[in-house]
Amino acid sequence: MFKQTLLAAALIGMSGVALAGHDAKPDANPWSNFALENQLRAMPAGDVTRGQQIHEQMMCNACHGEKGESPSRNYASLNGQTTDYTIKMMLDYRDGRRWEDYKQAEIMVKIAQAMDDQQIADVAAFYASNPVTTWSYSQALSPEDHAHADRLVRKGDVNRMITPCASCHGMHGEGNSVTPALAGQVPEYFVRTMKAYQGHHRNNDVNAGMSQFTHDLTDAEIDALAQYYASLNRKP
Ligand code: HEC
Ligand code: HEC
Repeated sequence: MFKQTLLAAALIGMSGVALAGHDAKPDANPWSNFALENQLRAMPAGDVTRGQQIHEQMMCNACHGEKGESPSRNYASLNGQTTDYTIKMMLDYRDGRRWEDYKQAEIMVKIAQAMDDQQIADVAAFYASNPVTTWSYSQALSPEDHAHADRLVRKGDVNRMITPCASCHGMHGEGNSVTPALAGQVPEYFVRTMKAYQGHHRNNDVNAGMSQFTHDLTDAEIDALAQYYASLNRKP
């Protein structure tokens, strides 16, 4: 009950937060690989059924959909996401590592601050248990744009020091541990978060890896990659 009251307060306070200006950003040291591994190992085991209950009681479903398949262009899809990545995001929001300087991330900061480790592990298990869906509003790319995006994904670009996305995110965008699944992600969210890495508003990635890979991408390339992944149906 206490947690729900907090959440309601957070949701009601949302517009107030925007008007009143930002709360102070909590201090949090950037992750080292070692610290992150230890933290993930120390997390309790998640439970899918409890995760679903939390997803409904804390109204995650209002924004992220019944099973994590975002019903709207504004919110990220969470279904089919790796457990480790979801856990890392919730910890990053909670502890102030993920704090993009705009309203959307602040919602998640407030919500994550109302959750304990067990609840975080439970929702992560729930999202991982739900299969990926293809984002239904993704637009078909022209054959040239598709080929260009496909090349970036599979071969990268040596001249710009862009490592192939697939070498970390998987050939089918399936992700691996703290590297997120990208298949079926909402394109508007994908673009927003790529630009947040590029502009250094999103700083929670270990060793600033994604900031480096987005550094030299053009807006058109980011758009094409977003549509490419949105329509990619992850293979089993
Ligand atoms: C009022 C709408 C809203 C509610 C309720 C909400 N979220 Fe979110 N969530 C968002 C938005 C918006 C983002 C993307 C923020 C951004 O762009 O930085 C997000 C991002 C996330 C992410 C990161 C996704 C990624 O791919 O990095 C996770 C994980 C998440 N939410 C989990 C939850 C959980 C768990 C709950 C319930 C306990 C919840 N959210 C409730 C709006 C919401
Ligand atoms: C060396 C490994 C690596 C490479 C190469 C890489 N990524 Fe990532 N990517 C990651 C990791 C790890 C994260 C999670 C960072 C964090 O914790 O915020 C991530 C996060 C992302 C996210 C955020 C997903 C979400 O749900 O918020 C997107 C989008 C993304 N990468 C797209 C790409 C694209 C497109 C490429 C190729 C141009 C690429 N990545 C190349 C490792 C990589």
